[in-house]
Amino acid sequence: MERSLVLLAVWALTSILAPLLVAAEECPERILGNERKRNCPRNCKKDKDCGAKRQCLCDGQCGLSCVVPSRTCPWPLPPGNNSEAHLLSPTPSFSALLEVRCLAGYAMDNGLDAAIRRCQGDRQWSGDEPVCTAMASPPPLEVEEEHEEPVASCELPEPDVSLVIVAGKPTVGATISYSCPTGYVLVGNSENVCHSNQTWHFPHPICQRMFCSPPAEVENGYLVAVQRKEYDVDDTIYYLCKKTYALDGPNKVTCLSNGSWSAIPFCRARCPIPAERSRIIIDGPKRWPFDVTDGVVQHGDNVTFFCKHPRKQCSYTAMETCFDGQLQAPSCYIEPTWLQYKLFPHRLVSEIDSCSPDDLVDL
Ligand SMILES: *[C@@H]1O[C@H](CO)[C@@H](O)[C@H](O)[C@H]1NC(C)=O
Ligand SMILES: *[C@@H]1O[C@H](CO)[C@@H](O)[C@H](O)[C@H]1NC(C)=O
Ligand SMILES: *[C@@H]1O[C@H](CO)[C@@H](O)[C@H](O)[C@H]1NC(C)=O
Ligand SMILES: *[C@@H]1O[C@H](CO)[C@@H](O)[C@H](O)[C@H]1NC(C)=O
Repeated sequence: MERSLVLLAVWALTSILAPLLVAAEECPERILGNERKRNCPRNCKKDKDCGAKRQCLCDGQCGLSCVVPSRTCPWPLPPGNNSEAHLLSPTPSFSALLEVRCLAGYAMDNGLDAAIRRCQGDRQWSGDEPVCTAMASPPPLEVEEEHEEPVASCELPEPDVSLVIVAGKPTVGATISYSCPTGYVLVGNSENVCHSNQTWHFPHPICQRMFCSPPAEVENGYLVAVQRKEYDVDDTIYYLCKKTYALDGPNKVTCLSNGSWSAIPFCRARCPIPAERSRIIIDGPKRWPFDVTDGVVQHGDNVTFFCKHPRKQCSYTAMETCFDGQLQAPSCYIEPTWLQYKLFPHRLVSEIDSCSPDDLVDL
């Protein structure tokens, strides 16, 4: 059904239309020169005009001619350039029809994509071999779209290749978002838009495996962990400090999802007490520095010193904090001399009366 429609359509527009259709009723007079390489058989009016084996039949533009009806035209034909030939008749004998159809995207010079050829009395197919050439612009897809309405979309990343997890539909105009499995971090844009030309606004991101490099060494401390080149996200390690050093910060450190370690602690040194000949307060009663174990305080300890009022015989306190081995005496503190310490121990700054609040107003 479809093929016969095509046939009709092609016929209606082909130059062979007239001779073919007319042949059904009456044969035209021989028209020469219209077709090249055409050897018309002998002209005739009746079968009697031809020999015993021939019949007087209408041979297209050759008009009534003496032909051998059983003779065949070349079949199958060698493959054409950008075209396909189909025999429309049961055999390629005299008057058989052949359809030559251009491949998709190709057309003949006359703009059609198919031609009909007839097996002539000279055992040749009528007309020239059709030349199918690529069309300047591809056939419009509009018709197809109207019928099938395919949803235009953009290409998603290859699931086997990419670990990226996509949320949303990749249809034109839509926005999708990407994520990565745990232990991986997204490199690229986390959102994308599918343009009407079915391309993404951004290239797809990738999921990069995250790991932590060996954690930093801590001065005066050591790491309690299996030595590795890479640590997985969520791996934990522990730090310890060398003897006499105090841990400042968490002892447990974790490999974070961005490949960084959580806060790494410090190992802080103790502080020598910068006073010898007056008492001090380290959390509790007044003490002589030589009574303090090793003469040091822990990192973070507060040490209270006694200072003398510049004009009065009274003392006031000033506090300093030990920080990683550094503990300065307050600027008001004056270390008593050896003589003062030996001869007048009761007049040492840490031993005299405390100043009254009033005394301290004009300090
Ligand atoms: C088919 O293509 C080949 C190579 O391009 C060319 O040599 C040949 O003449 C073409 N045949 C026709 C019928 O156009
Ligand atoms: C597709 O459309 C976008 C936005 O209109 C444009 O930026 C991009 O260059 C286009 N891409 C191609 C391949 O035409
Ligand atoms: C990793 O994440 C932590 C906490 O989310 C953040 O403090 C740190 O700066 C990040 N590191 C990098 C290199 O982005
Ligand atoms: C030292 O003093 C500071 C500020 O007064 C206080 O925050 C800190 O807790 C004190 N440290 C100790 C070990 O008592």
